[in-house]
Amino acid sequence: MRRGKRVGEIHIMVFPFPLQGHINPMLQFSKRLASKGLKVTLLMAASSINKSVQDQASSSINIELIANYESDPDKKQEDIKVYLEKFKILASQSLSEVIEKHNRSDHPAKILVYDSIMPWAQDLAERLGLEGARFFTQSCAVSTIYYHANQGAFKNPLEGSTVSLPSMPILGINDMPSFMKEMGSYPASLALLLNQFLNLQKVKWVFFNTFNKLEDEVVKWLANHQSVKTIGPTIPSMYLDKRLEDDKDYGLSLFKPNTDTCVTWLDTKDINSVVYVSFGSMASLGEEQMEELAWGLKRSNSYFLWVVRESEEEKLPTNFVEETSEKGLFVSWCHQVEVLAHKAVGCFMTHCGWNSTLEALSQGVPMIAMPCWADQPTNAKFVEDVWEVGVRVKVDEKGIAKREEIEECIREVMEGERGNEMKRNGEKWKELGKEAVDEGGSSDSNIEEFVAQLVCS
Ligand code: UDX
Repeated sequence: MRRGKRVGEIHIMVFPFPLQGHINPMLQFSKRLASKGLKVTLLMAASSINKSVQDQASSSINIELIANYESDPDKKQEDIKVYLEKFKILASQSLSEVIEKHNRSDHPAKILVYDSIMPWAQDLAERLGLEGARFFTQSCAVSTIYYHANQGAFKNPLEGSTVSLPSMPILGINDMPSFMKEMGSYPASLALLLNQFLNLQKVKWVFFNTFNKLEDEVVKWLANHQSVKTIGPTIPSMYLDKRLEDDKDYGLSLFKPNTDTCVTWLDTKDINSVVYVSFGSMASLGEEQMEELAWGLKRSNSYFLWVVRESEEEKLPTNFVEETSEKGLFVSWCHQVEVLAHKAVGCFMTHCGWNSTLEALSQGVPMIAMPCWADQPTNAKFVEDVWEVGVRVKVDEKGIAKREEIEECIREVMEGERGNEMKRNGEKWKELGKEAVDEGGSSDSNIEEFVAQLVCS
């Protein structure tokens, strides 16, 4: 009697929420699964990607477009709630049709790996005869905080000036995920994040974009309470273990990068002489903060490459681009990992989105942490105090990092002894990140184990 399946017969579907910070890690995970021989289909909400999507993505995976709710959610909590509900209705309908279509083919899907912020996909998968697997795009530390919140560990508002949790450093109130600080103020966002744990007990595979040595204690703690499979860092392979051929870029960009401009400009600069500044795909600085940042960069006298998304451009001080043309390059989007890997880049001023944090760690680039919201304050805490690869800007009573502070942070990282130490620590994390995804590393072994379980079942 024949037991199990050949690996190539196993079809997995991967379903990220249509935001850049969620697509990138799940797309890279898809490529890793495909490299193990599985058939992988990435399900992309259609309005979120441009028409050339099929050409951009890796040839090793298939892409199916599914319906999306054609609206950019506003930051207002009520709008977010409505957007999420409409997205769920449309996406579930379309997802069901795609899965059913494949179920009628020679390669029915067996597993649906879905983004943890869409826990409803578990029931949908089961209804259609698939097993569900949940994918967390944030750190294990942040997930653990939400886990405790779900267990009712915190009062609203948070009491005291610090928070003490098992396996974690003591966290200041400002190190907590932003929506936890004032729980009542962001009900839709908080619910979205806490619901990541909904019905988790019945989910067999729970993936995290992190690696064991990076979050050692907290990974062990969480693994004692639920299923945990670390599979990161999910950076294009050419910047880590180089085992996935031609995997130089994520490949599904919601924005158009100015790649050549950046590299050509960086090539003319000395080693470690450029500050790279970017706040990811969503964060939006206030006008005053934008202005302080601009003048802080100018005062530092460093070269800088600043990603200012089109929606942010008008907040730049008048004539700033012209006035700093000798020192600065402004682009609306870049190929970030390629920039971080460039030898001219000496530090990364970042909002500490989880992908940006992992990318900097994986390239050994010291950070100036300027967290905005969600998980970013907690990531910033770890960057500064646990991994010791960065410094966090101090803010005034209005939450603004002033130009003098920004200048000082840049000088500290680019010129000071502490900056050299951060670079040395960065080299260590870079090696450990590579080791995790390389053959036999902890993340690679977790992926192998997952595939082996599928083959045997
Ligand atoms: C969001 C949240 O803000 C973040 O905190 C959460 O952990 C994941 O989802 P985002 O704010 O966009 O993501 O930040 P981040 O997680 O850093 O992801 C941004 C991605 O866009 C990164 O992979 C980065 O490489 C890419 N990027 C950013 C570019 O390719 N080019 C750019 O110019 C800027």
